[in-house]
Formats: sequence, C-alpha cells, structure tokens
Amino acid sequence: MRVAAGCIAMLLASAAPVPAQTPAGAPAANTAGAASATAHPETWPVLAMRRQRDPKVEARVDVMLRRMTVEDKVGQLLQVDIASITPADFETYKLGSILNGGNSAPNNDEFAPAAEWLKLFDRFYDASVKRSDGRPVVPVIWGTDAVHGANNIVGATLFPHNIGLGAMRNPALIRRIGQATAAETAATGIDWSFAPTVAVVQDDRWGRTYESYAEEPAVVASYAGAMVEGIQGSVGGDFMKPGHVISSVKHFLADGGTGGRDQGDARVSEPVLREVHAAGYTTALPAGALTVMPSFSSWNGTKMTGNKSILTGVLKDRWGFDGFAVGDWNAHGQVPGCTNEDCAAAINAGLDMFMYSGSGWKQLYANTLREAKDGTIPTARLDDAVRRILRVKVLAGTFEAGRPSSRPLAGKFDLLGAPEHRAIARQAVRESMVLLKNQGGVLPLKPSANVLVAGRGADDIGMQSGGWTLTWQGTGVTNANFPNGQSIWRGIDEAVRAGGGRATLAVDGRYTSKPDVAVVVFGEAPYAEFSGDRPTLEYSPDDKADLQLLRKMKAAGIPTVAVFLSGRPMWVNPEINAADAFVAAWLPGSEGGGVADVLVAGRDGRPRNDFRGALSFSWPKRLDQYTLNRRDAGYDPLFPFGYGLSYARGGSVPRLDETRPAATGGDQNALFVRGRLAPGARVAGEGAVTIGRIDRLAQEDSLRLAFTGAGSVALVQTQPIDLSREANGQLSMVVDYRVTAAPTGQVTLGMAGGKAATVPITAALQGTGEWRQLVVPLACFADGGVDMRGVTRPAVIASTGRLGIEVSGLRIASAPGPVTCGAR
Ligand code: BGC
Ligand code: BGC
Repeated sequence: MRVAAGCIAMLLASAAPVPAQTPAGAPAANTAGAASATAHPETWPVLAMRRQRDPKVEARVDVMLRRMTVEDKVGQLLQVDIASITPADFETYKLGSILNGGNSAPNNDEFAPAAEWLKLFDRFYDASVKRSDGRPVVPVIWGTDAVHGANNIVGATLFPHNIGLGAMRNPALIRRIGQATAAETAATGIDWSFAPTVAVVQDDRWGRTYESYAEEPAVVASYAGAMVEGIQGSVGGDFMKPGHVISSVKHFLADGGTGGRDQGDARVSEPVLREVHAAGYTTALPAGALTVMPSFSSWNGTKMTGNKSILTGVLKDRWGFDGFAVGDWNAHGQVPGCTNEDCAAAINAGLDMFMYSGSGWKQLYANTLREAKDGTIPTARLDDAVRRILRVKVLAGTFEAGRPSSRPLAGKFDLLGAPEHRAIARQAVRESMVLLKNQGGVLPLKPSANVLVAGRGADDIGMQSGGWTLTWQGTGVTNANFPNGQSIWRGIDEAVRAGGGRATLAVDGRYTSKPDVAVVVFGEAPYAEFSGDRPTLEYSPDDKADLQLLRKMKAAGIPTVAVFLSGRPMWVNPEINAADAFVAAWLPGSEGGGVADVLVAGRDGRPRNDFRGALSFSWPKRLDQYTLNRRDAGYDPLFPFGYGLSYARGGSVPRLDETRPAATGGDQNALFVRGRLAPGARVAGEGAVTIGRIDRLAQEDSLRLAFTGAGSVALVQTQPIDLSREANGQLSMVVDYRVTAAPTGQVTLGMAGGKAATVPITAALQGTGEWRQLVVPLACFADGGVDMRGVTRPAVIASTGRLGIEVSGLRIASAPGPVTCGAR
C-alpha cells in the first residue's frame, strides 16, 4: 500500500525532550483525578520510638554545625556514586556520602575482590578527612544495596530474597539474617546498607515484588523492625556496635502500590497509605532505623521525593523520625521543576541527602550552594538536614571509627560466606519453600533412588539468586562467581549420595537409563526494577520449553517434582498439572543445599525436614489475577495467602484449567518500553543496518539503529496482535527517538498485518541530537489496508539511505493533540 503523498501523518509532539517523570506507556500522572496527594499527619498513628534524643549527641552536633560554612553544609547533602567520583575529588569537595549502585564497583569490576572494596573506601575516607583549615572533619560514609546479603561482594552469603523470607513467618531468623548481612558488609568496611525494603506489594506484575516480604501489612510489620535491629543492633544493647551498619528503610511510601509499574503512581486513599503501605515503618522506625529512602514513585500524581506532607509532615513531624532521608537514584530529578543537577524542591520537601549518579555532581553542588545562599533553601531547612546527617554519623560512630580498614571487622574476609552465615541462609531456604502439590507421595525423594535433576535452574546459582546479585540485574554471572555458593543440583547430589542413591544432572532432561524420579528446576531469569515488570502473571508466555520438559517426563512415566524459582507467584497451571509435586522455592540465594534438606529423605526414608513455608502472596488461578487480596469480595486465588502443604498434610491438586485468555492484558501496547519488548516480540533487521543497544534512562533501554544503506528494522510478533480496538479508539503509534546521523534517503514508518502500509517520516528526522517524539495515528495504517486484527509487524522503520537513529520507546497511546492522517 502507499499512503497518499500528503499523508505526512506525524506530529512532532514538541521539540522539548520527553519528561523523564512520565511513566512510559501511561498518560502523564498529574493530569488525572481529584484524589489528593496531601497527607493529614494528625490522622497518622504516633510511634513509640525506642531511641531517645541524646543531649550529648545533640551538643556535639551543635558544635560542629556552628563551625561549618555553608559550603561544608551543602557538601553533606550529596551522596555520589563511585562510578562518578574519585577519592581525589574529596580533597576539594567534602561530600556527605558515596554509594555503589547495583552496577558500580571498584575499578569498574563487578567481581572485584573484597579487599579492593576496602582499599577504595580507605582512599575515599582518607581524602574526606584531610583538612587543614580547622573546620570540622566529617568522614564520608558509604551506602550499598545489601538487600539479600552483602550481595555486591564476591563470596558473600546470599539469603533468599524477601519474598521467600516472607513465607517463613520467622522474625527471629530475620534478625539473624540482618546480623549476618551487616557483619559481611562491615568486613568490606562499608558502613551503610539500603535495606530493608518494606514494600507491601499489591500487584505482583511489579518487577520488585521479590523485594517485598508480603502482600499483607502484618507480615511486613513483623519483619521490618527485626531486620533493622539485625542490621543496626538493638537500641539499648548492641546498637551500632562493631559488626552493625546503618540501615535504610525503603522506599517511602507506597512503592508497592503503583499498579505493578516500577516508579509508578499509587492511586490510593490516605487510609490505604497509612494502613497498608506504612506497615513496615511502624516497626522499623521505633527500632531506631537511622535512614529512610523516599520512593521514586508517586502518590496520586505527586512524586514522593517532593511530597512535603509525607516526608516532613508524617515522617519527621508526626513520627518524630530524627535520622535522615536519602534520595533514591537521581529520584529528585523527577520532581516537577527539577533536574538531576538542581532540585531545591526536594530538600525543601524534606529530603536530606541527594543520591546522585552522573557526571554533573559539581553542578548539583553549585546549584544547591547557590540556593542555600540565596534563601531558596531556607537556612533552617539546610541546618536541619545537616544536623540529621551529622546526628546519624555520631550515632553510627563514624567519627571514632577511623579508617575503614582499621575497623573491628574490616578485612576479616572469612566472614564472607562464613559457615555460620551459610547455615542461617540454608535454614531460611528450608523454611521459605512452599509446597503447593505433592501427589502420590513423590516427595520426599528416597535417598536410595536414581534421581534425574533437570531444568535450566538446576545448576545455576545466579538464577536461583535473582536480581541484585553481584550485578544490578543479576545477569552475566556464572557459578564460578560464587566461591561459597552451592547450586540446587549440588545440594541434591550431596544428599542423594549420602543416602546411598545416585543423582544425575542433565539440564535438558535427557537420560540413558530411566530414572526413578526427576526433579525439574526452572523459573524466571534474573531481573531488577523495571525490567521485571510484566503485563500478566503468566509464566514465560513466549517460551514453553520448561513445560515441555515437565510433560516429557510425565509422558515417559517418570514421577516428577517441579522446583519453581520465581520472584512472585505466577500462573503456572499447566506446569502444576504436568508435575506430581510442585514446590515454590522463590529466589533462595547461594544456599541451594537447603532445597535438598527438605526434598530428600534420610536413610530411613523419613523426611529430614518438613515444609514450613506458607504463602505470603496469594497464588493466582488466572493470569490476570495480579492484585489478589484476601480482604476483597470475590477473593478467588488458586492457593490463598497462608497456604502451604507439608509431609503431614497430603497434597493432591485437581486438574487445573489451562485456558489462556486470548487477550493477555493490555500491555501489548507497550511495544518497546524502557528496554523491554512486548510479550512475543523481537527485533529483526534486514539489509544494510546494524542494531545495538544504548542507555537513555537506564542501562541498554534503547535501540541504536545504524543504516549504512537501504535496509529496515522491524518489530516482529510471534503471535499476531489485535490492534483493532486501539485503531478504532483513535490511538497512535508513538515513537521516542533521537537522530544521530541525518538521513541521506527516504525513511518510512510502517506496519504489517496481511498487507503492509508505510508513512513517510523523513521530514521528522532532520536535526540531530535531541530526543523527540513522533506520533502516527493507527488510522493511517488501517486506512492503508493493514489488518488491524492480525498485526504481525507493528513497527517497521525502513530507510533507503544512511541514517543513525536511536529509539527509546515504541508504544500505542493516545496522541497528545489532534492528529489527522493525510490532512496536512
Ligand atoms: C533503587 C534503590 C537502590 C538504589 C541504589 C535505586 O534504583 O530503587 O532501591 O537502593 O537504586 O542502588
Ligand atoms: C544502578 C542501580 C540503580 C539503577 C537505577 C543502575 O545503573 O546500578 O543501582 O538502581 O541504575 O535505574
């Protein structure tokens, strides 16, 4: 088809860059609804803080504060990622803190030995305390995400992610996990952990569901205080004594209420905010948590990082929290009117320390300094923020601790993966597994049996550990990176051999002599944050190889145990049907042996350990049940909150419905958003074009297309998608793009389904370097003859000549303005 020449049906939405705070694929949050984003602190409960203000500490802070210049004070408000700053910078800039984000490490080496971390901290520390002008010396502190163990450090004990811990219902063990994690962190000298996450996740499509203990506030509340005490020590006891580090409770508030969307908007009432999402803080803060991290997300359209009624009104004034609020990763830049390099509004709302990554921290410093001097940031607010930071440093012993390498636990690298810590983790693995089905007594495995261990997750410590494991996404790691870890396969092998049987590993399930029983370990590949957001809860919609493996075993008459690794409950009805036993093992971490402790019986054939895990998230019966809540009318899960079988309680499950609704959620419209392709889509190039990935807002979230001559790049759907409703609804194809090399030929945007149609877009591609948006009404394609009911290639960019273009988003959305096709 050929669209009439006049049909340059595109619109440059505006020359302005697309605002980063608009969640891709969603309408701008601040346009919707009358729901208020102002909290009423007087309606919030008062908390009984166990740590009282200490006059000696306050006096010490006062003395320092009086002797500090405004330059010194502003410096304390900045925390900068080690990827963006060097120790030498601290000779001039006395900043409050550094951090390592999920992907930053000493010498840019994610696998740097622990000694390198300690060495680097010494260098930062030395520079931070070097000062000859007589003004107060305030040592730098280092924050890290020790969210399931000291997970950035090779050799550390990795505990189950929070969702697994939630299933244990064991606050005492949580405390010991916190202690062990703090000790391993302290071994590297690092003195601050961004944990625990106390999100009360209400929509399991969210990529951070696994960082949540439970969908029920009570479970989260029972853990948060215990974890803080484990990390920091107990007020009145070992509080901030050697082996403890500063904790940061995150992400404040309602990070788990954003409708399954990372950094999204929690559209909930104030009572829901208070009674559901605040649960963790009601125990973490009384336990003495020294820092709180405001959330990236919004409440009724207002970014939490800029919400004064929440940060100042509730957290500080109502609750009396006297530690400090550290921002999330450049989150301040998402507050309206702010950039990453300039955001007085966040400080004025109650943020005390910016978390910054990027090359512009000197600008952030300079802008904040100017605003502190000209009164944009009132002196009282500046002093309050600095006072809080100094108070935390005094309480944490930062001024006495000395060089990181001189601290009591520093350099004791045998704490990493210490046998006592691994034993705690292994107990947590045992207690976190939830038995969902056990038919015909296939479990426990007889130790004398011939056991086949199969599946992609069987011998993969990275996969069983999930995101935030050595790397941010938990990808790119191999078993060799876990010198102290054990895969699930190794654990089973050990247990079966100890029992006199024989175990064989075959990831693809092939065998020469028929086994007595098979264990198939499979599940989600690691992810973190937005890359884990999913449109539905269907497990692996586009790749059913695991299901086929289970079915193959069944067809061969081999009793089969499914061990499911996942960061959330998922729709696995077909997989449950295909297995005789089904175990939800979550993301157990480095101690795979804990799985065998429960699965494999002792020599006497009796279980060595029974299952104890109880679901902390409801398990869906259908793939669209992502917001199950037992208080809702019509609550109809497959397995309810609290469910979990044991050897004592039998476990057959009637055959489950395997029907998969044709429309699997509305998110097929997010064709390519934040680095992720819609379900069932892939990118295919033809002709003289190369396809790569680049970072726009996050790692590798954008495509880079380099045409050296005629060619095309298409988004190809495995299964045709139905866009007829969208076309009727006057939606458009919205492309976020940036031209890096102007076109030398003609460029079109096309769509195919039955027939193909194209729209010329060359005119929109003049001028390089700026992110822009192109809007093409779907009607252009429908009118051009595309069968909108069966679209196989929703987007095809074709060029007849050279062109450099980067694409960060492709989605079907309502266009921001009146657009007609061909009428221009
Ligand atoms: C995450 C936080 C984390 C921070 C530092 C952010 O993107 O939301 O949970 O603490 O990065 O890595
Ligand atoms: C960092 C993470 C951070 C994320 C934010 C990554 O580059 O390593 O720590 O949470 O960016 O999007």
